[in-house]
Amino acid sequence: GDGDSASSGSGNSGDDKIVLGFSQVGAESGWRTANTKSIQDSAKEAGIELKFSDAQQKQENQIKAIRSFIQQKVDVIAFSPVVESGWDTVLKEAKDAGIPVILTDRAVDSPDTSLYKSFIGSDFVVEGERAGDWLVKEYAGKTEPVNIVELQGTTGSAPANDRKKGFADKIAAAPNLKIIASQTGDFTRAKGKEVMEAFLKAHSDIDVLYAHNDDMGLGAIEAIEGAGKKPGVDIKIITVDAVKDGMQALADGKINFIVECSPLLGPQLMELVKKVKAGEAVEARILTNETTFTQEQAKAALPTRQY
Ligand code: AHR
Repeated sequence: GDGDSASSGSGNSGDDKIVLGFSQVGAESGWRTANTKSIQDSAKEAGIELKFSDAQQKQENQIKAIRSFIQQKVDVIAFSPVVESGWDTVLKEAKDAGIPVILTDRAVDSPDTSLYKSFIGSDFVVEGERAGDWLVKEYAGKTEPVNIVELQGTTGSAPANDRKKGFADKIAAAPNLKIIASQTGDFTRAKGKEVMEAFLKAHSDIDVLYAHNDDMGLGAIEAIEGAGKKPGVDIKIITVDAVKDGMQALADGKINFIVECSPLLGPQLMELVKKVKAGEAVEARILTNETTFTQEQAKAALPTRQY
């Protein structure tokens, strides 16, 4: 025969697609939905077979998914770790099986960086710093106390840890800026609303809300309006992400400032997957390009916003 059999596995038949196992955090926010879509669309475009698993914000589900990808002998595993700690064992299992791992969006705190090939995503500390910088400027020259409440992301997650730290570091420059309450809202709208209601009951003198994502900020806006106050005016609001609903609230004057965090990681991830599969060297850290938005900038950007 002259090699017309597609089933011969020896090398160059065009149909051996790369298989990528991806374990997603969940569907907790508008950001996450946009991120999932970006990954699914770009896998299709790149001709990569995607095995997609949603962990519903639970680490144990992610560990199960990764183990199942190892069993299925996928070519590459990528995942967005819900929390930073506790990955060493399962990452070691992937390494021992010879399956390369790429971290997407969120980091792990494993000291052994040979457990993954690359980490693509934002610098969450910088995001927190941008939020803090804006607030320090907003109250520049004023000395009266400014009471801040903070809605943190998922406890133990890299974006919650880092956005808290970056913000705290920057506002330390202005001793009148004080965080009077800080609690997790799990990156969801429902929890953001619930926790903000509790904050409003406990404190009559809130000047500023810093929410680690748009969704929690949007939930909090409902709580603030429910308490008869004007979001963006009576209580200034800073959020992170810049998804469409957040940008709309910013343009409407209900949010005062948004720090962008890009969910569009799919195209770069697929490039990385191809390189890693081909055994090529890849950069250990790939940073996302991001900006910030004022109310005026949101009005200008909204018509062409993709997500
Ligand atoms: O890890 C990125 C964060 O996760 C986003 O800022 C938040 O909206 C999402 O849930």
